[in-house]
Formats: sequence, C-alpha cells, structure tokens
Amino acid sequence: MSNTIDQIIKKYQELGENPETYLEGLLHADPITYWDYVEVDTLLSLQKPRTPFKDEVIFIMYHQVTELLLKLIRHELEQLVDGDIIDKNQVTVKIGRCIRYTEMLISSFDIMKDGMDPGEYQKFRKTLTPASGFQSAQFRYIEILCTPLENLINEEGRQRLPQNPSVEEYVDHIYWKDAGYDRSTGKKTLTLQRFEEKYLEDFITLAKKVQGLTLGDKISQMGDRSSLLVQTLKKFDYLYNVEWPMVHLRTAAHYLEEKNGQIAATGGSKWKKYLHPSHQQRKFFPALWTEIEKEQWGEPKTIDHGNKEQTTSTYYSRRQDL
Ligand code: HEM
Repeated sequence: MSNTIDQIIKKYQELGENPETYLEGLLHADPITYWDYVEVDTLLSLQKPRTPFKDEVIFIMYHQVTELLLKLIRHELEQLVDGDIIDKNQVTVKIGRCIRYTEMLISSFDIMKDGMDPGEYQKFRKTLTPASGFQSAQFRYIEILCTPLENLINEEGRQRLPQNPSVEEYVDHIYWKDAGYDRSTGKKTLTLQRFEEKYLEDFITLAKKVQGLTLGDKISQMGDRSSLLVQTLKKFDYLYNVEWPMVHLRTAAHYLEEKNGQIAATGGSKWKKYLHPSHQQRKFFPALWTEIEKEQWGEPKTIDHGNKEQTTSTYYSRRQDL
C-alpha cells in the first residue's frame, strides 16, 4: 500500500502539484457508482416511441443495441487502421472480437422477426417513413475502414467508373446508392437524399484519410499470413457480408413480401434485389476467396450428397469454428 502511495506522491510531484491536496480530495470524494459510470439513466432515457404500440420500443432498442455493437466493431477496426504497424496476431485478435460481435448481431436478429407482433409492426413502421436502417452511418464507416473503395462497387458500378477514379467518383458509384438512386432520371429517394446531406462529406473525409491504409490494404501488404489469420478474416467477411445481410433480408421478406408482390419499404428501395449479397457483391477481402467462392457469394449451397441441405454459411461456420 505504501508503495502505491509513494507512486501517487511521485506522480503529482512530477507534475509540479502538491500530492497532499490530491490525497485529501480522494479522502472526501464520493465513491463512483455503477449507474454513473455506465450512464444507465441516460441510456434508459433514449427510447422514445412515436406510437402507442408496445412493440415499437423493442424495434427502437434493438436498433440501439445494433448501433452499440457496430461501435464495438468500429473500435477494433479503427485501432488496426490507425496503427502504424500491425502484426498478424494483432489482426487475428481484433478481428476475432469483430466476429464475436457480428455473431451476436446475427444470432439475435430473430428479435426483429419473431420477437414483435406483426400487426403492431405493420402499423408503427408506417410512421417511420422515410427513415430506414439503410441510414446507419456506422455500417458505412465499417465498410470504409475494412476495404479499399473499389471493393464497394458492384459489377454495374464498375462499368460506369471512369479511369483512375478519385475518391469522390468511387463514392458516387458505391453499391449502396442503388437503394435510392435512379441513374436514368437522376432522381434520388428522400431517404438517400437526407442520408447524403448528413453524412456524405464525412464518408469522403474518412475514405481519403484511410486511402491505402484500410485493413484490406494492410493485409495485402503483409508478407507472412498464417492460415489462422486468413480463416479469421474470411470468417468475418462472410458473417458481415453474407450471414448478416441474409438474416436481415429474411426478416424484410417476412414483413414486406406478400402473395401478390412486395410491400414498399420505408426507405423506398427495391429491397428484394438490393439487399441480397449476390447483388451487392460486397466483400472486404476478395483476394482471400477463390473464383468459385466469389461466384457463389450469398447463394445457398448443397454440401452433403444426402438429403440434407445446408447453406454455405452453416457449412462455413462448422468448418471454421474459431
Ligand atoms: C423488422 C425489421 C427490419 C426490416 C423489415 C428491415 C428492412 C429493410 C429494408 C427493406 C432495407 C432496404 C432499404 C429500404 O428501402 O428501406 C433495409 C436496409 C438496411 N437495414 Fe433494415 N430492416 C429491419 C431491421 C433492421 C435493423 C434492426 C437494423 C440494424 C441497424 C437494420 C439495418 C439496415 C441497414 C444497415 C440497411 C442497409 C443495408 C445495405 O445497404 O446493405 N435493419 N432494411
């Protein structure tokens, strides 16, 4: 104990301060509480339904939980992208954490599908137009941190890109604009317009800052990639860009698909096509996948020769149980 006090005294002496004052302050200070430290009251005050339907608060809170988990993923990625040197063990540990968070997002998504009353959902969702989860900026920050912009352009976008595109030109053709931009008329949905007004500049600033330094860039410059590192990166890529989009798409279909067609989404996209991973072709680390794996991106695949049908994803997570 006296050693700790000695260290405290030394610390404040080095700062040119009187240690006695600080020790006395400690003597009188109230001990920290759980509720202050975690800001529980603030956190629990952030749910503000717009209708009397009881299940709307589930919808709000689950989105908030998702944003927190996305923030945890960003937190790991930012450290990898900002760091001058990254070694393979660091990447394996940090992407392992991202995998854990993404798995939480995937395994909990049925809160949205089975955990709400469908009748209530159909009513309160109409009050949310034109807001959409599409407008989650964190989802886009994660993409920009993970991979060079060229990997966020789908096949059609690639045909349109000029030679040696600037960051702005890449962003102009980024896959997610397909959700709300009719290029033949130049019209954008209100959902996309509002999203761009709020965040587009920030996306471009981040993309410029991390140009050549994204996780994907750093991985491709890494000489000795262990098989554990490669499998970890592939697993994250697959979970984030196929598994999550698929549980999300299945939920969208659960609510928005009817016998005689699709119900309009609050964000106004042609969601059934747009949300499918095989349309988006979003991959963070394409160089790690074989041509066949890339062609089959997002498609269910029969693995066994027997009657049992497995999706590629269940096959994948069984194989790479990291
Ligand atoms: C009942 C639940 C949900 C339904 C029916 C649903 C439906 C949709 C639809 C139809 C879109 C396409 C854009 C549009 O036209 O609105 C979309 C996009 C999106 N939603 Fe959801 N969503 C649900 C829950 C969530 C949750 C909980 C999140 C978590 C933040 C979320 C995040 C997103 C994201 C990030 C996109 C853009 C995906 C991309 O660009 O690849 N959604 N959603």
